[in-house]
Amino acid sequence: MSEAHWRHKDLLDVEALSFSEITRLLDTAARFMEINARPVKKVPTLRGRSIVLFFAEPSTRTKTSFDVAGKRLSADTFSLGVSGSSITKGESLKDTALTLQAMAPDIIVIRHSSSGAAHFLAERLDCSVVNAGDGRHAHPTQALLDAFTLRELWGPDMAGKTLLIAGDIAHSRVARSNVLLWAKLGVSVRIFGPRTLLPPGVAAWPAEVYDNLDEAVSGVDAIMGLRLQLERQQAGLLPDLAEYARRFCIGRRHLNRAAAGAVVLHPGPINRGMEIASEIADSAQSRILDQVAAGVAVRMALLFTLAMRNEVQ
Ligand code: CP
Repeated sequence: MSEAHWRHKDLLDVEALSFSEITRLLDTAARFMEINARPVKKVPTLRGRSIVLFFAEPSTRTKTSFDVAGKRLSADTFSLGVSGSSITKGESLKDTALTLQAMAPDIIVIRHSSSGAAHFLAERLDCSVVNAGDGRHAHPTQALLDAFTLRELWGPDMAGKTLLIAGDIAHSRVARSNVLLWAKLGVSVRIFGPRTLLPPGVAAWPAEVYDNLDEAVSGVDAIMGLRLQLERQQAGLLPDLAEYARRFCIGRRHLNRAAAGAVVLHPGPINRGMEIASEIADSAQSRILDQVAAGVAVRMALLFTLAMRNEVQ
C-alpha cells in the first residue's frame, strides 16, 4: 500500500482528522475487509510490532476487535485491565502508562472512565496512543466504524443523507464523536434525547436538536439508538425505567416514519426493550452486527496507518 505520510502520532478524537484522512482510513478499512473474509485471516504486515490494550473500563466489542485487528496483521497484542494490575494497589495512570511504555510498544490503546485520559497519555508517551473511549468525551473508532457501515450502504458520497442519534446523549462519547465525524462528511445529524439526558452546550453541536421523537425520526435515512448508561446516571435524571422505555424505545412505529430503506444502528451493548425494541435490533433493517464486523476492519486500518506512519511505503 503506497500512501502519503500520516501526520498524526495518536488518534484521540475525530476532531483532528480531515475529510481526506477519514476517507483514507475508510478506504484502507475496505481493503482489510477482504482479509476478514478469507479462510486464513492473517497477513504479515505488522509482524514484530507490539500493541498494548489498556482497558480500565469494561468492553466486549472494542477490546476484542482491537485484539483481533492486531493479530490479523500479525502484531503482538498484550492486554491490561484494572483487575489483576497494580492499579488496584494505587498505581497512578501516569506511572502505569510510563511502565507500559518502558516495554517499548508501538501503540497503546486505552479505554478509561476519565474524559481526557487518552490525551493525558498522548502528551507523555512517545508511542502512539489510541482513544478507545474516555468518559463522556470521545470514541473515535466507534464513529469511524459507524461511518464505514453507512458508507458501504450509501456509497462514498453521503452528502444529503440524514442520521438521527437518539437516547442518552448526555453520557455518550459515541454521540459526540459521531456528530463531529458526520459534519465532516456532509451528513445532516439530528439529536433526540429526553431533556434531562441532553448535555449542556448541545445547541452548539453541528446537529439539529429535537424534543419530540416522532418528529425527529421523520424522513431520516438512519437511526442510531444509544445505550441508556445506567452506570453513569445521577439521581433524578430519569423518572423511571418503564416510563423511559414506553416513551423513548425505538420501535416499529418509529421506523415506519423514517425514509424508505432506513436502517438502524446501535454501538452496543444493547438494553433490549429499553432504548431499542428487540424486534428492531433483530430486523432486516438492523446494521448492528455489520457495525461489529466493520469495527475489526476499521481498527486494522488505524493500527496499520499509525504503525507505518514513519515508514517509507
Ligand atoms: N461500542 C462499544 O464501545 O462497545 P464495548 O463497550 O463493548 O466496547
